[in-house]
Amino acid sequence: MYLSFLLIICYTLPSLLRACPIYLTISLDGKTLQDSHIEVNWGPECHEYPEWIGIFNEDPSTAYVPPEARITDITNSSGKIVSDVKIGKLRFPQGWNNYDENVVPIEYPKGKCLPYYVASFNGTELLTVECLKIQPNWMSKLDHIAQMPLKELFIPGTHASAAYVANLTKTKSVLIKDYVVAQQFDVWSQLVFGIRYLDFSIGYDKIDDVYDSNNADNFYIVNENKLVRPLRSVLRDIKRFVQLSHEVVILDFSSFPIGFYKHPERHSGLNHLLREEVGDIVYIRNTSTQEGSKQCDELTIEEIRKDNKYLIILYPVQELPYPESGD
Ligand SMILES: *[C@@H]1O[C@H](CO)[C@@H](O)[C@H](O)[C@H]1NC(C)=O
Ligand SMILES: *[C@@H]1O[C@H](CO)[C@@H](O)[C@H](O)[C@H]1NC(C)=O
Ligand SMILES: *[C@@H]1O[C@H](CO)[C@@H](O)[C@H](O)[C@H]1NC(C)=O
Ligand SMILES: *[C@@H]1O[C@H](CO)[C@@H](O)[C@H](O)[C@H]1NC(C)=O
Repeated sequence: MYLSFLLIICYTLPSLLRACPIYLTISLDGKTLQDSHIEVNWGPECHEYPEWIGIFNEDPSTAYVPPEARITDITNSSGKIVSDVKIGKLRFPQGWNNYDENVVPIEYPKGKCLPYYVASFNGTELLTVECLKIQPNWMSKLDHIAQMPLKELFIPGTHASAAYVANLTKTKSVLIKDYVVAQQFDVWSQLVFGIRYLDFSIGYDKIDDVYDSNNADNFYIVNENKLVRPLRSVLRDIKRFVQLSHEVVILDFSSFPIGFYKHPERHSGLNHLLREEVGDIVYIRNTSTQEGSKQCDELTIEEIRKDNKYLIILYPVQELPYPESGD
């Protein structure tokens, strides 16, 4: 199933409290992200409809730009409408693209608009403006967030986080299209958008994977009983992101559907891989300290980051063949 993730949306409603809160999402209709359409949403809080809504590639409150699309029929009770504007090539600001190696990015504690704006109007009167935003630094920059226990935070997360296929054009299988692929964005992009909780199902397989034959590792991301991609590359992306942003990310290893049954030693193998790839940045509980004696969800971001640790790993320790130290 497709399960799109939550973007953190901050409305700017100074004197516009009556206006409808209109925001953008990306439709799941394309075979690639590039081919997917922009979706305009107005949701249940919309009581007084604007006359029209425009999609822009610049902020229409600061620059005069003609709309790329103009939507006048806002009566659809679903609260959203798929526009005919495609996302096209989505680029993040310098340094926040996965391929931008060795570029130090600007920090955006309040988020940063990508060039996709939506504005609502009555005639020529501008009512609201909103944009599609990235949130690469939302956690790091707000002191009060850093001091709150994890359980009191709203942490945006995704389901089957690494179950995406970049280009479905050649994929014939309905199973893959409709069930295996759960995400439109790779894990890196999800993190840039603000996701901080990732969910992984892991499989073990000795044969090389069809999606990446260069990687001989045996641990794979799995969804709906299909191997999707090697785990190692996903871990590397996560590591690079947290080193760049200093954000805290929770990795939930929720199930082990392929190859682990009656093979407890494979949990040890996976544990070894995790230590090798991200061991130095995983928060390890030291039960002789005050923080270490806390449950994970009682820790604050500040406590986790104190020794340059950025990852919390949730793992069903009862699966391990022998008790491991730490979490
Ligand atoms: C926009 O104009 C319509 C009438 O055309 C009115 O009903 C509505 O309240 C106005 N919306 C806002 C937010 O002012
Ligand atoms: C709302 O729009 C969707 C497609 O965007 C369409 O399938 C549906 O029929 C529309 N509903 C109404 C009530 O117009
Ligand atoms: C997706 O794959 C098709 C067929 O291989 C190719 O023509 C198309 O350019 C690809 N699209 C992207 C965005 O990579
Ligand atoms: C745990 O914390 C105590 C007190 O700070 C310290 O002496 C000890 O070395 C720590 N143990 C580990 C395994 O880090």
